[in-house]
Amino acid sequence: MITLANNKTMPAIGLGTWHLEKENVKEILEYAVLEAGYRHIDCAAVYKNEKEIGEALHSLISSGKIKREELFITSKLWNEQHDPDQVEKACKKTLADLQLEYLDLYLMHWGISFVPGSYPKPDDKDMIDLAYIPLHKTWKAMESLVDHGLVKSLGVANFTVPMIIDLLSYAQVTPVINQVEVHPYNTQENLVSFCQKQGIQITAYSPLGSSGSIEDRPLSNPVIEHIAKQYDKTPAQIILKWLVQRKIVIIPKSSQKERVLQNKQVDGFTLSYEEMHQINELNKHHRFVDPSKKWGVPYFE
Ligand code: A2P
Repeated sequence: MITLANNKTMPAIGLGTWHLEKENVKEILEYAVLEAGYRHIDCAAVYKNEKEIGEALHSLISSGKIKREELFITSKLWNEQHDPDQVEKACKKTLADLQLEYLDLYLMHWGISFVPGSYPKPDDKDMIDLAYIPLHKTWKAMESLVDHGLVKSLGVANFTVPMIIDLLSYAQVTPVINQVEVHPYNTQENLVSFCQKQGIQITAYSPLGSSGSIEDRPLSNPVIEHIAKQYDKTPAQIILKWLVQRKIVIIPKSSQKERVLQNKQVDGFTLSYEEMHQINELNKHHRFVDPSKKWGVPYFE
């Protein structure tokens, strides 16, 4: 468990649900919670599978196999719902889909607002229609979700350092999480260290390199493979352990039960300083998730 800046706790390993196919949700969620011991599920409205996740959660909770308060559920406000008038509606839609009364954590998914209905951008259009809604207005509306008991903690995702500094200048409810892409090819040492100094916990999304092609992903890197052999672990376990030792929360996704289990089994060994360093050195600032082209907006530049 990780203690957040607001003194609430969060399981350090969660199940990612981006690209978790609707037809696999029930089986994987039940396995993750009941067999593999996951208590933290990372969701988002834009992943388009919250309804199926909600059905699985409802079945787990109503059968008495798990209590709601034993679970830590995250969701994210999508870019088309930044208008302060839309924020509560969007959160309530997610809650209805997930069949929950409250979220443990609600994140602003990206620090950019789109005109509703403009996503996804048609290929023949240069740039998505931006809504130009100031982030502070969206944040204020998110803060009232906490006041209304719909959400326990607030955070952001894909925020850069200047965005964080700006947010901290006005936030009444301070962000406890910044969820960003971190893996051995995008180690994000400066952003991670800055957020940690500000008391903002980092969650690594796409910790295994997401949907990149197998040969491009850090899972196939010889340095990782070599370390994995030393410990009799898999490359995925080495990457996840490297993140856990950096005090980063991880949310690996898998549609395969044995991997769901494997991704949670990172105890019982410790990577040496030298091995941590060797993995840090693999950094090439490579993002597997960069929607700049898809949106026509150079978000990370
Ligand atoms: P699959 O769902 O077929 O298991 P990330 O969490 O970085 O987005 O990575 C998810 C990708 O990594 C998915 O393609 C998933 O495929 C794969 N994956 C998840 N766990 C493992 C593992 N332990 N070993 C190898 N690949 C994995």
